Amino acid sequence: MSSQESPVPPTTSDQITTMALEAVGATPNPRTRRIVEALIRHTHDFAREVDLQPGELLYAAEFLKRCGDISDASRHEFILLSDVLGLTMVVDTLAAEVSDGALEPSVLGPFYRSGSPLLPNGADLSRGAEADGVPTHVLGRVLAADGRPVGGAELDVWGTNANGLYENVDPNQPDYNLRGRFHTDDQGRFDFWTVKPVSYPVPVDGPVGDLFAATGRSNMRPAHLHVIASADGYSTVVTEFYTDDDEYLDNDAVFGVKSSLVVHYDWITDEKKVAASPRAQPYWELRRDLVLTPGVRTGVEFTAGREESAR
Ligand SMILES: [Fe+2]
Repeated sequence: MSSQESPVPPTTSDQITTMALEAVGATPNPRTRRIVEALIRHTHDFAREVDLQPGELLYAAEFLKRCGDISDASRHEFILLSDVLGLTMVVDTLAAEVSDGALEPSVLGPFYRSGSPLLPNGADLSRGAEADGVPTHVLGRVLAADGRPVGGAELDVWGTNANGLYENVDPNQPDYNLRGRFHTDDQGRFDFWTVKPVSYPVPVDGPVGDLFAATGRSNMRPAHLHVIASADGYSTVVTEFYTDDDEYLDNDAVFGVKSSLVVHYDWITDEKKVAASPRAQPYWELRRDLVLTPGVRTGVEFTAGREESAR
């Protein structure tokens, strides 16, 4: 450069964004191209908005590395991270096509295990018995929007024991305890026994715990029962039912609560009903019909494993 020429101005961050977008402009798959371009635009704008410092970017990289390091077959820190940022609920809510009055989705969570036993209606999911919690009868019908019963629908349900632990991370519980699948009869009816859900903390011994600490948030989830409802000709719904009197209902660590998913349990003491129940003691009863939305039946592309120490 001669002394007469004007000096070249420094490269701007916007020019780098343009180059990065051009670099992926020939991505053959249009969906991949759309996602990667938006990822570049949004992350670059994010850095500009918060004036992200090099040390903070390295901290973020280390944070994600720690999420990977602590994850294994029974622990999925990236799912937990997505859940506690509310991203999971945004994605699931956007993706769901729900008719008015039909069952809405909620978080799958990181504790779903596929392949739980297919059980006859009336079966008890509590294989650990007394220590699992207070017996609870769940019954209702699976219906179409016009009220017609949906026979042969499948409900895949799971929950924690009274200690707030899922069996796959608790060596004190039998394999697949408090998990099971049921099929509705030709009247759309289902019923099963489990234990009353309790509120529980999401794990904070990993990097997501640091996020909770840094933001001063509660890591509690309100009591809930997980359900995946599926049937031929209907959209599969991954959801949870939330207990109406739970103290964390308005403060869910993963933002899963929707008003249509809040349910009420009745305390049953009627002598005849108690005598006929599996443990012959007073129990909770949840009656809830599920309305499905017409659509495509899909599977769930995730399963947790059972922790080594719990095998
Ligand atoms: Fe859960």
